[in-house]
Amino acid sequence: MTYAVDCYDHPQYWDLAFGEDTKLEADFIVAAAKKYCDFEPQRLLEPGCGGGRLLLELASRGYLVEGWDLSEAAVQYANQQLAKQNLQGQAAVADMQNATPTEPADVAYCLVNTFRHLLTEESAIAHLKTVAAALRPGGLYIVGMHMLPPDADEDDEEEWAVEVDDVTIEIKLDVTFCCRRTRRETLRFEMIVKDSAGRPQHEFQTDYDMRLYEAEEARSLFEKVGDFELLDVYDFWYDIDEPLELSDELGDTVFVLRRK
Ligand SMILES: C[S@@+](CC[C@H](N)C(=O)[O-])C[C@H]1O[C@@H](n2cnc3c(N)ncnc32)[C@H](O)[C@@H]1O
Repeated sequence: MTYAVDCYDHPQYWDLAFGEDTKLEADFIVAAAKKYCDFEPQRLLEPGCGGGRLLLELASRGYLVEGWDLSEAAVQYANQQLAKQNLQGQAAVADMQNATPTEPADVAYCLVNTFRHLLTEESAIAHLKTVAAALRPGGLYIVGMHMLPPDADEDDEEEWAVEVDDVTIEIKLDVTFCCRRTRRETLRFEMIVKDSAGRPQHEFQTDYDMRLYEAEEARSLFEKVGDFELLDVYDFWYDIDEPLELSDELGDTVFVLRRK
């Protein structure tokens, strides 16, 4: 029962699969805003918001949230969840390479590799310019992604399972193709949803093309765009008191950029 569909169109499972990190990530966004902004942030923007797990968490903390995503199903789901919980915010079907926010944002964030969906330098620059135009001066852009150090093992595989209520979701991420020359990899994403008796109910599998970055490449991309100052980097432990050195030693990297 494997469907050739886009896993991103099934946010009810995606959001559960990544739900364990939501609070930690939201805590980091709030802590970074407090540490680096000289104003009180109110408006948050998430390009590639998916089903809105972070929009919801942050809206429940009192922020006004806005999200953009290409997946109609994910946007619809995010808006339903916001309305159901009576939270302030909205998601829209929009391309993060050229969208416009309803109001300028104070802080934007884009975690878990979404940025790597921009496959060319051209599209990454268009996106960074779009976010720069969406942010007020002094606002932040927080970008998190898995980097490929020059000596890293290119065959990467990760598996985990999440049990929520009466379903278990098994998730597997597998790099099925990697080419340093073209800066591309293919990440196979599999989700198996099982009922309380362990019987598979749904199986999803999607191959996502992603762009590869090394530390220096990311730094020079941000410099080239010119609208941002790179303030600090962190890893996926999200410890705001532990900024790190940007280097190829870091695998998972969170960049904190400030709009000039
Ligand atoms: C890795 S998922 C992350 C979802 C969500 N941000 C989260 O943290 O759970 C990437 C999301 O980016 C969206 N996406 C990919 N390319 C996009 C683009 N050019 N514009 C807007 N959304 C995009 C996908 O539809 C997907 O929902």
